[in-house]
Amino acid sequence: MKRFSEAYLKKLHIGNITLGSNVLMAPLAGYTNYPFRLMCTKLGAGLAFTEMVSANGLKYNDQATAKLLYTDEDERIKAVQLLGSVPAAFEYACRSAYTEAFDIIDINMGCPVPNVIKSGEGCALTQDMKLASRIIEACKRSGKVVTVKFRPGMNRDNIVVSEFARMCEDSGADMITVHGRTRNMMYEGEPVYEYIAEAKNAVNIPVIANGGIHSEEDALKMMEQTGADGVMIARCGLENPMIFSQLTGKRTEETKLSLMLEQADIAGRCFDELAAMEHIRKISSYFMKRLPGTKTYKQELYGCGNMQEIRRVLVKIFGETEK
Ligand SMILES: Cc1cc2nc3c(=O)[nH]c(=O)nc-3n(C[C@H](O)[C@H](O)[C@H](O)COP(=O)(O)O)c2cc1C
Repeated sequence: MKRFSEAYLKKLHIGNITLGSNVLMAPLAGYTNYPFRLMCTKLGAGLAFTEMVSANGLKYNDQATAKLLYTDEDERIKAVQLLGSVPAAFEYACRSAYTEAFDIIDINMGCPVPNVIKSGEGCALTQDMKLASRIIEACKRSGKVVTVKFRPGMNRDNIVVSEFARMCEDSGADMITVHGRTRNMMYEGEPVYEYIAEAKNAVNIPVIANGGIHSEEDALKMMEQTGADGVMIARCGLENPMIFSQLTGKRTEETKLSLMLEQADIAGRCFDELAAMEHIRKISSYFMKRLPGTKTYKQELYGCGNMQEIRRVLVKIFGETEK
């Protein structure tokens, strides 16, 4: 089989930043916190994004929102994703101390969730190019590198992908990511490669292809069919973060157990114990998705009262299954 690392792997230049690889980890609400992002980049991802963070939440100093921004020096290139619909809130968020540490601002113009759409945020912005453009310009005024993640449109009869891609470039975006599913498709079904290819043909900035990549074969097909400059992995990164070393050809001695124990160490250092336990429970549920006996393991993890117990159960789950 053709290898992604031989056929398509390259460094990616976005604005004045160079990423070590064109295989990126997507923003995932509830998952892509600091420990998780470190794991992805260590395994070869060129970049990993925070989950979506409300620009309004930052404007109004909401502390739960601010907590999502935890990072530190070990994260070499830092990318935060913002969600909202008010240009002034984006401008404030990009210039505020909250995002000071971040090198890249990614704007969410793809979220399909009903509440988000109702507020005119996420994918709803594909219906209002003028507003979307003002948001990009507002972020650019911060002087940071700005990227946009969006869907081709609301449904099959409303595909705006080329115009939207051009608008992003004209408004100053340094890179776009196209999730090849319409809003109506939510997270199911095959992404439509042609939509991503249309975006690629419309602009000169890097275009990243996202949607439905669960294997090296999927990643190869995505690159072949779209001509994109790189791929963004989402759910597969949760189930099998080794996909990053596989696609980038990065050698690693890591096992699921060593990765999980490292996650426990980092989360234990950065978060309070409850939050650290929550993080491990959530990501290990995905990690063991395809293992036998998952239900019992999950019960054991949720029964743990502290991080020490969690570590013991992790050794049991992943030590046993890796023997
Ligand atoms: C649980 C979950 C949370 C997500 N959170 C975000 C988010 O915060 N920001 C965003 O742009 N997309 C988010 N997405 C969408 C993913 O980034 C990605 O575009 C989508 O899952 C398609 O990629 P995949 O088929 O490889 O999973 C989320 C998806 C899932 C399943």
